[in-house]
Amino acid sequence: MKSSAEVPAPGSPEPAPASGPLVDVRDLSVVFRKRRTLAAPRIVRAVNDISFHIDQGETFGLVGESGSGKSTTGRALLKLVPAAAGSVTVAGHDVTRLRGKALRTARRSMQMVFQDPYSSLDPSSTVAASIAEPLIVHEKLSGRAARERVHELIEMVGLRASYADRYPYEFSGGQRQRLAIARAIALNPGFVVCDEAVSALDVSTQNQVINLLERLRAEFGLTYLFIAHDLAIVRHISHRVGVMYLGRIVETGPAERVYTAPAHPYTRALLSAIPDPRRKSERIVLEGDLPDPARPPVGCPFQTRCGHVMDICRQRVPEPTVVEGGGEVSCHLQTSGPTLAGAPLSALPKGPGPAA
Ligand SMILES: Nc1ncnc2c1ncn2[C@@H]1O[C@H](COP(=O)(O)OP(=O)(O)O)[C@@H](O)[C@H]1O
Ligand code: SF4
Ligand SMILES: [Mg+2]
Repeated sequence: MKSSAEVPAPGSPEPAPASGPLVDVRDLSVVFRKRRTLAAPRIVRAVNDISFHIDQGETFGLVGESGSGKSTTGRALLKLVPAAAGSVTVAGHDVTRLRGKALRTARRSMQMVFQDPYSSLDPSSTVAASIAEPLIVHEKLSGRAARERVHELIEMVGLRASYADRYPYEFSGGQRQRLAIARAIALNPGFVVCDEAVSALDVSTQNQVINLLERLRAEFGLTYLFIAHDLAIVRHISHRVGVMYLGRIVETGPAERVYTAPAHPYTRALLSAIPDPRRKSERIVLEGDLPDPARPPVGCPFQTRCGHVMDICRQRVPEPTVVEGGGEVSCHLQTSGPTLAGAPLSALPKGPGPAA
């Protein structure tokens, strides 16, 4: 592999081609019931009434702390978990309603890359066998044709075709993730969910894999949902970003606007944790943990940790409102509070905090 010195850090992605949404998520909820002996099952609303879209050829970054519902969202888009409510339209089909053969056909055009490459590369098989499997099962390719295609795919992700007969443990973490990407694109999918796909890698390897994903997107017109708990990672690959908190999307917008002028106190706190010598504002420490998703607070989900909490925040869930510069934010500061008149969040004095 190239040394890190040769690998340019990712910049902003090339603009996505102007076309309509490939993925349209409306009012989606996903509920898990956790059975407990001698007690009523706990109902966890892992995804709570979310809406967003991803344009054809676009990368939509989804960020938020661990447990906020990002993976469940990604899985629901591919119908790997059932939706309790709402719709997920991909290329004109409501995925939540697909069954049997129609679902299997749709799934070929939607793939997932996970944090752990062993989720898709069988440790006891050669990488050629793992990458060839979908080609043999779905495309009914002969062994020879599948092998040729595997070599092509391995080269496409920047590795040598001769690596095909090695086992996953013989590769570095970054190389293994490249091979997992090769398997994900084997069937020419239009839509790929990358769930923390680079989160376990060191920074220079992250940059290499992000550059690879960006190159594949531009070359094959792929559309990505790029999930990560780390905002710094998402910034460099995403055209637009969604910020998730306790099952809800609290802010969306063009990546540049969200990073330079965050409109939600939670986004601002996440951003302040990223070291940036150019930024003068103080670090906002997020106190406490994510509340138990089985017992979310009434009203705004962020109220227990927000420095600007008002009475209305404890009564009503804030509705999404349009933000200057693009996107939407769900926060009462914008609809009932002091930023209603257009004051930026950074101009507000820190409020009394949730304990007051
Ligand atoms: N299969 C499952 N069964 C029960 N609860 C789950 C399941 N998957 C996720 N959850 C719960 O749903 C919430 C969101 O989880 P997840 O989507 O994995 O968040 P993230 O990817 O943002 O870390 C968490 O409270 C998690 O415990
Ligand atoms: S100001 Fe209110 S609505 Fe906005 S994030 Fe804080 S608690 Fe939520
Ligand atoms: Mg996750």
